Amino acid sequence: MTTSDNSFAIITGASRGIGAEYARELASQGHDLLLVGRDTERLTRLSQELETAHSIHAHGCTLDLAQPNSAHQLFVIAREYRQTPDFVINNAGFGLYGEFVSHSLPRIQQMLQLHIQTVVESIRLFLPGMIERGSGTIINVASIAGMLPIPYFAEYAATKAFLISFSEALAEEVKSTGVYIQACCPGQTDTDFHASAGFRPSNPMAVQTASQVVEVSLAALKNKQPVVTIGWQGWLSSLLTKWVPRKILTRETGRRTRPPTT
Ligand SMILES: NC(=O)c1ccc[n+]([C@@H]2O[C@H](COP(=O)([O-])OP(=O)(O)OC[C@H]3O[C@@H](n4cnc5c(N)ncnc54)[C@H](OP(=O)(O)O)[C@@H]3O)[C@@H](O)[C@H]2O)c1
Repeated sequence: MTTSDNSFAIITGASRGIGAEYARELASQGHDLLLVGRDTERLTRLSQELETAHSIHAHGCTLDLAQPNSAHQLFVIAREYRQTPDFVINNAGFGLYGEFVSHSLPRIQQMLQLHIQTVVESIRLFLPGMIERGSGTIINVASIAGMLPIPYFAEYAATKAFLISFSEALAEEVKSTGVYIQACCPGQTDTDFHASAGFRPSNPMAVQTASQVVEVSLAALKNKQPVVTIGWQGWLSSLLTKWVPRKILTRETGRRTRPPTT
């Protein structure tokens, strides 16, 4: 266990994109970090960069969170540094684009494990310590995709819907304990996400930056909103899902996401 007095944040999917941006922002605020992902080189480089720039402790942790039992492994590793973290940011994720039946079963299983099982298990392991201490923040990076059914992103949108519902319910359960739980719902954000998923954002004008997402998410710590959307895109999506009948929304979304026929 380290002796630093700094507060301690665990960030999954910290090797790039939104996760790396959470790491940069929290490091600049003086938090020690445990940065989790599969890309050891990137994690090491980022840890060193942040330690030098901000006089904090940052550790890279190479772990495939799509493997069963990885939440438990993370819990054990985290306790080498601190008894109970101040922040747990469940951000690691990936997109799967195309017809459901074209996706391989192992890839679907990885998504369910990474977006749902590992997140739920991690929270079950870390939350009791936070409640006992009377403080802590858990941010689950969901998506505005979780607010509506999305044909050709069916599993992705459904796992993010789970995260929103789960976070909102849990936030209510723990609201008197000093622990804050947030579902952060970015819209299309400029990271490697779309290239990895094989999907090009339909409207480049609507694309957000990772730093915008992180700024809004961390600013919401003040008023403890359980579900956080980003910018006018988030506002518009929330509005549409409230007022447009689900059947129409699903059909129109499907028209926009339908893969081009080859
Ligand atoms: N970009 C968007 O438009 C957008 C919109 C809404 C929500 N989101 C959500 O934001 C989160 C971050 O995505 P991003 O946009 O920053 O994408 P990204 O740049 O592709 O980053 C994804 C991160 O997740 C990690 N990751 C993926 N699979 C993993 C695994 N099996 N085990 C451990 N780490 C894993 C990657 O690390 P390694 O490669 O090192 O494993 C990487 O650091 C995701 O949950 C995504 O669903 C993104």
